Amino acid sequence: MLDISKLVVAYGQAVILQGVDFTVRRGEVLALLGRNGAGKSTTLKSIMGLVRPVSGQVRFSGKDITGAEPYKIARQGIGYVPEERRIFAELTVMENLEIGRQGARDGRAWTEAELFEIFPNLGRMRARRGGAMSGGEQQMLTIARTLMGNPSLVLLDEPSEGLSPLIVEQMAEAIQLFKKRGITVLLAEQNLHFTEYLADDAVIMEKGRIVWSGGMKNLMADTGLQERYLAV
Ligand SMILES: Nc1ncnc2c1ncn2[C@@H]1O[C@H](COP(=O)(O)OP(=O)(O)OP(=O)(O)O)[C@@H](O)[C@H]1O
Ligand SMILES: [Mg+2]
Repeated sequence: MLDISKLVVAYGQAVILQGVDFTVRRGEVLALLGRNGAGKSTTLKSIMGLVRPVSGQVRFSGKDITGAEPYKIARQGIGYVPEERRIFAELTVMENLEIGRQGARDGRAWTEAELFEIFPNLGRMRARRGGAMSGGEQQMLTIARTLMGNPSLVLLDEPSEGLSPLIVEQMAEAIQLFKKRGITVLLAEQNLHFTEYLADDAVIMEKGRIVWSGGMKNLMADTGLQERYLAV
């Protein structure tokens, strides 16, 4: 569904991605793993058109989207949840969600009931202002709003970061449920254990290169590999 090939990205003179190759298959959750500064966020930003690659290619459903404008990429069906939460503090939960519906891709729209089945705590706070929610709740709202755009592929940048164990658990359940609905997920994470039961496959990045790729089960069985490349 998503094919990244020979992707090179630089910030000024500094070459950050040095020829990245990987594929996300339709319907799977792929974990993009690696330590601080490995290049995970840069990879997601390049897919989304927020950073223009020096060379290489991003293909989505067979179409070349390399360096296209972010809103055009979103309209093709890619949703992006950045590391920093972006809710509208003055707007309510429902109003925040409505904004996510604007510019949505064609296809079956999410109903309120479906969305609140995935995020039950949001259903209990419909009229709450975004600014009056906890960090974890805001993170859920950001993801829920992205789903309102009806994406077929969602890029999540460290969704478990800074969340308490209970909220991390809820986040994992939410991701499992939208995978069930057929949404493909590219999950950038430092936290291997968050991805353990979510991801089908994994790629490991170090210094802007993919150094390993394979099944999640194989990665979990290989502690040497984990110690070498991941913060475990
Ligand atoms: N706007 C920028 N200008 C210059 N260098 C940058 C910029 N953004 C990121 N970098 C550098 O690019 C490298 C990769 O950063 P990136 O944010 O992609 O890593 P990451 O894997 O997402 O790390 P983390 O797990 O800490 O979020 C780092 O060395 C970082 O310092
Ligand atoms: Mg990052």
